[in-house]
Amino acid sequence: MTAQRWIRSGMLGLAVGILLFAGAAGGNEGSKRSTGTASQAATKQQDEETERVEGEKRFHTNCSRCHQYPHKFPPRMMATIVRHMRVRATITDEDMRLVLRYMTQ
Ligand code: HEC
Repeated sequence: MTAQRWIRSGMLGLAVGILLFAGAAGGNEGSKRSTGTASQAATKQQDEETERVEGEKRFHTNCSRCHQYPHKFPPRMMATIVRHMRVRATITDEDMRLVLRYMTQ
C-alpha cells in the first residue's frame, strides 16, 4: 500500500519533470522551430538520401572554408556543436538541420 503510493507519486513527479524539460528545451530553439517537426515526421525513407546529399552540399558551401571534412561525433554532441557552428557560418535553421543530418549519418 505504502510502496504503491510512493511509486505512483514517483511516476507523477517523473512525468512533470519530463514535461518541464521538454518545455525548457523547446523554448531554447526560438520561433523558427515550428517548420521542422511536421515536415520531419512526414519525411519518407526515400527522401533521406536526398536530404543527406543536400546536407553535404550545404556543409561544403557553409563550413568547408574553415573545415576540410566533417568530424564524426555522437549525435547529441553534434547537435550542440553544429548549433555553435551555425553562428560562425551564419546559416539558416534549414541549413543547420540538413548539415546536422548529414553529419550524424
Ligand atoms: C569561421 C570559421 C568556421 C566556420 C564557418 C565553421 N566552423 Fe566549425 N569550427 C571552427 C573552429 C575555429 C572550431 C574549433 C572549436 C572552437 O573554437 O569552437 C570549430 C569546431 C567545429 C567542430 C568540432 C571540433 C572539430 O574540430 O571538429 C565541428 C564538428 C564543426 N566545427 C562543424 C562545423 C559545421 C557543421 C559548420 C557549418 C555549419 C562549421 N563548423 C562552420 C570554425 C568554423
